[in-house]
Amino acid sequence: MKALVLSGGKGTRLRPLTFTCAKQLIPVANKPILGYVLDQVAAIKIEDVGVITAPETGQFVKDYVADGSSWGVNVTYITQEPLGLAHAVKTARGFLGPDSFVMCLGDNLTGQGLEGFVKRFKSEHLDALIILKEVETPSSFGIAQLDEKGNIVKLAEKPKTPMGNLAIIGTYLFSSKVHQAIERIQPSWRGELEITDAIQEMINMGFNVKAEILNSWWLDTGKKDDILSANAKILDEYIQREICGVVANSTVDGRVKVESEAQIINSVVRGPCIIGKNVLVENSFIGPYTSVGDGSKISRSNLEYCVVQENVVLSDVERMEDSLIGKNARVSRNQRCRTIKLHVGDYSEVEV
Ligand code: TTP
Repeated sequence: MKALVLSGGKGTRLRPLTFTCAKQLIPVANKPILGYVLDQVAAIKIEDVGVITAPETGQFVKDYVADGSSWGVNVTYITQEPLGLAHAVKTARGFLGPDSFVMCLGDNLTGQGLEGFVKRFKSEHLDALIILKEVETPSSFGIAQLDEKGNIVKLAEKPKTPMGNLAIIGTYLFSSKVHQAIERIQPSWRGELEITDAIQEMINMGFNVKAEILNSWWLDTGKKDDILSANAKILDEYIQREICGVVANSTVDGRVKVESEAQIINSVVRGPCIIGKNVLVENSFIGPYTSVGDGSKISRSNLEYCVVQENVVLSDVERMEDSLIGKNARVSRNQRCRTIKLHVGDYSEVEV
């Protein structure tokens, strides 16, 4: 069995961050989301991993994943114009050959490993296993309708008329028969070859397609608020108290990880939180569910429920919440007058 990790796409909903970075590399708890996905792939002892990249952001992904040795896997990069998830499979056909494979979206996280799914896929000789999760807004997702025995009745991408609330999440297992189905489908109204259509076609062709409901959390990190939720979830699940840096005249409460060479001076930090390497926090309050990336400097500021990436400078920011700050950004208070002065990238969002 091989793995196909989709790390291409357009990332329009995360602009401007995706102008200078692949969205799968946005950190949660100071580690790129893609890193967690590759951890799960490596944990099921898959050796050959194809990584789909987009022409514009592929180099960022290659710089991070390199030859895959950090995860003990062999990586093959496949460049793809973002024309849909089924198009990504089609583009990877040479790499996949006759093998079955697990396909993971590089920006989706779940609280559950892949082992159970692979076991079922193999023992029941399936052609496709899709994983489902209840959602509140079915019209934003690929949705599967099941009968009372749990068999798939119908699939639809972002249905306009209600057909249940079970969304198809970003983990799929396929036999090589998926390629026959992809050959038969046409691009959707949005011009993409949809994986939902390919799976529906597999059902129409009489292949053995089953669904399983995920019994842990699932986060699709396509938008800012999803990144903040994923950050909170990962901090909650994985961060243990560990103080490697310097804490002086400060209170550090609960599950806080302070990495080496970080300095917390005259400040309060309340977990769960991670403070990266070489970060300076002075005269500030860092509240729960905040990650501060390596090399950032925070002074005379209060923040909570934020993702602050690497080498950010924040000063005199009275109260910042629910915010995602990109690498090397500077946010400061204008001390002299009450005017707001902005130097903000294309497609940014600022609430004042
Ligand atoms: P999406 O989030 O559905 O699409 P997108 O990345 O184009 O984002 P946006 O809608 O904000 O413009 O993609 C899900 C995952 O699959 C994501 O990790 C990117 C990846 N992907 C590909 O690798 N190739 C593709 O053709 C598409 C559409 C997505």
